[in-house]
Amino acid sequence: MFGFLLFVTSIIYGIIQPAHQSTYPRNVTYAAHLMGYNQKFEQPPWPVPGNQFIIPRWIHKDGLAFTNAVHYRHGRLTVSADGLYFVYSHVSFTESSSSRDDNTDSNSLSHYLYRYNIMYPNGGEEMLLMNSFNTCSANNEQAEYSSYLGALFKLRNGDELFVKVSNLTLLVTNSKINTFGYFKIGDST
Ligand SMILES: *[C@@H]1O[C@H](CO)[C@@H](O)[C@H](O)[C@H]1NC(C)=O
Ligand SMILES: *[C@@H]1O[C@H](CO)[C@@H](O)[C@H](O)[C@H]1NC(C)=O
Repeated sequence: MFGFLLFVTSIIYGIIQPAHQSTYPRNVTYAAHLMGYNQKFEQPPWPVPGNQFIIPRWIHKDGLAFTNAVHYRHGRLTVSADGLYFVYSHVSFTESSSSRDDNTDSNSLSHYLYRYNIMYPNGGEEMLLMNSFNTCSANNEQAEYSSYLGALFKLRNGDELFVKVSNLTLLVTNSKINTFGYFKIGDST
């Protein structure tokens, strides 16, 4: 039902606003910089495919965080003009040896950048970048692991961007360590 509504909404949106046009003036700067939410996230109790959890919340209009000519909602940035964009995200995980579960394969951590648009195949969700690494099992008290993703992409008006990680509860809660943002650097043609 929700999926259907979303679909209908997309069609209506498509009619009102042709896919390749932006409602913003040509000289606007399309950019956003989001900062890490400063509270621990709860891992959803239900199984999630591939152990990939979307970071559900970012600070988007406080301090250094801003969105300019881009829509932010539920952890997602929606592109509002076709173009060539630089997209980036940095996250850090912190793990103590006592919290590590040695009986599972949870000694690897991953960081993903995704886009969603109903027009793309396989349900519309596409992985753009990923980084994966093993956490070492030395007996250090506390270890911190960082990951940075950043690259250029041709994005479309309506593309939604979001970040996923393999373990939400291990994310540090520092708004300047975890970041997610983008800026338009040119037209896609
Ligand atoms: C963008 O262009 C409009 C119309 O030409 C102008 O009024 C506005 O000041 C410009 N904005 C910037 C940030 O240059
Ligand atoms: C996330 O990490 C915590 C602490 O190490 C662990 O208990 C939990 O099982 C992990 N969750 C997943 C989905 O790997």
